[in-house]
Amino acid sequence: MKVLVVGSGGREHALAWKIAQSEIVDEVFCVPGNPGMDEIGPCFDVDPMDLHKMQELVLQVVPDLIVIGPEAPLAVGLSDALRARGFDVFGPSEKAAQLESSKGFSKDIMKRFDIPTAAYGRFTDLTEALDFLETMDAPYVIKADGLAAGKGVVICDTLEQAEDEVEAMMTGKFGDASAEVVIEEFMEGEEASIFVLTDGEGAIYLPPAQDHKRVGDGDVGLNTGGMGSYAPAPVVTTRVMELVQTLIVEPLLSGMADEDMPYQGVLYVGIMVTASGPKVVEFNARFGDPECQVLMAGLPGDIVPALLTCATGGLVHGHREISDMMGVNRFQPSACVVMATKGYPESYAKGSIIENVSAANGIDDVTVFHAGTDKDSDGKLIAVGGRVLGVTATGKDLRAAVDSAYAGVEAIDWPEGFYRKDIGWRAL
Ligand code: AMP
Ligand code: GLY
Repeated sequence: MKVLVVGSGGREHALAWKIAQSEIVDEVFCVPGNPGMDEIGPCFDVDPMDLHKMQELVLQVVPDLIVIGPEAPLAVGLSDALRARGFDVFGPSEKAAQLESSKGFSKDIMKRFDIPTAAYGRFTDLTEALDFLETMDAPYVIKADGLAAGKGVVICDTLEQAEDEVEAMMTGKFGDASAEVVIEEFMEGEEASIFVLTDGEGAIYLPPAQDHKRVGDGDVGLNTGGMGSYAPAPVVTTRVMELVQTLIVEPLLSGMADEDMPYQGVLYVGIMVTASGPKVVEFNARFGDPECQVLMAGLPGDIVPALLTCATGGLVHGHREISDMMGVNRFQPSACVVMATKGYPESYAKGSIIENVSAANGIDDVTVFHAGTDKDSDGKLIAVGGRVLGVTATGKDLRAAVDSAYAGVEAIDWPEGFYRKDIGWRAL
């Protein structure tokens, strides 16, 4: 069969890499892809946000399965547009993807289905928002309602800072995305990422993962898209996983199906493991990046039957067999170290040359996933983004996986890059 992977980040490179290993897959196409994905199969230079061009492309390629990686095309209805053309698509509808694209929508759903999360209010009126703030205790959690490229959440220590932040957001800090704000109670605990593959009814739970959001060692400094990840994450015990399943995922999936917006694709449940059990920090409509890299690397089996069944239905009856095919129970501990351009997540230069990626790929159990890379006019690999490479490795235990990932990082020659040196520290 032919599979089309939509996206161009490390997450999508990992998906394309894993899908290409499937015995039932003949060819993998990517749109728009990146230099790493280009080595797997043909890449098409089409913007996934352009629904018209994307429909033209799929009518030309005729893939048997389309896998959508990023949230932005899901939020504008790419999966609906391609399904309407008769294609099998792994990825939620525009309506269901609001779980990520609107924080207010997501909080209201959690309230309706009694899913544990932080207490909150949603506001479009500044005075009401400021009045609500006064009823809350520090620290204050302020969120833009819409997609803000991972920057839309601000945690303030004082009421004064919180008031300033609410005002900035509601007067256009993130444009339309922050015309509405959500103000939340602060949850104390350790965060983890849970990924559930679903056709809207059945579900397969992947091993829990954790990412490192802060730019600096010891989890300090500015928030980023994620500087590294590992799985499994021991903070998510069997008991926590059971609670996630019964208190969060099952009520969510059945509730969404009842409300005529069944969720299908991968559901990302960001949880806080608190003293009183797991609570939802956020839902996302996609795999995490770089969590996807460690999940794809660590799964020893074939992921394509799972993706296909999520797209077409039938997971309730087939989930055990499909989960065995993927090798969920044989998952290998895995770690990913992100190499980013110096200056990220603030401003950074583009165009620096990266060498010796193939030497890293030559190390046992190491795979380098590309994100913000490109080729210059001489065909040399260059950095064009903030997060650039995801050096990923498996091992007999997490220590071995982390050591191999860092051996991969050491092999790469890129003076303009930097990385965190403590990936996996909470588990080691
Ligand atoms: P979000 O985009 O909603 O995941 O928020 C980004 C980050 O802000 C999360 O990964 C948490 O570290 C933090 N955060 C968000 N909401 C809360 C909350 N209610 N309590 C504590 N931390 C939070
Ligand atoms: N690594 C966090 C995310 O993908 O949102």
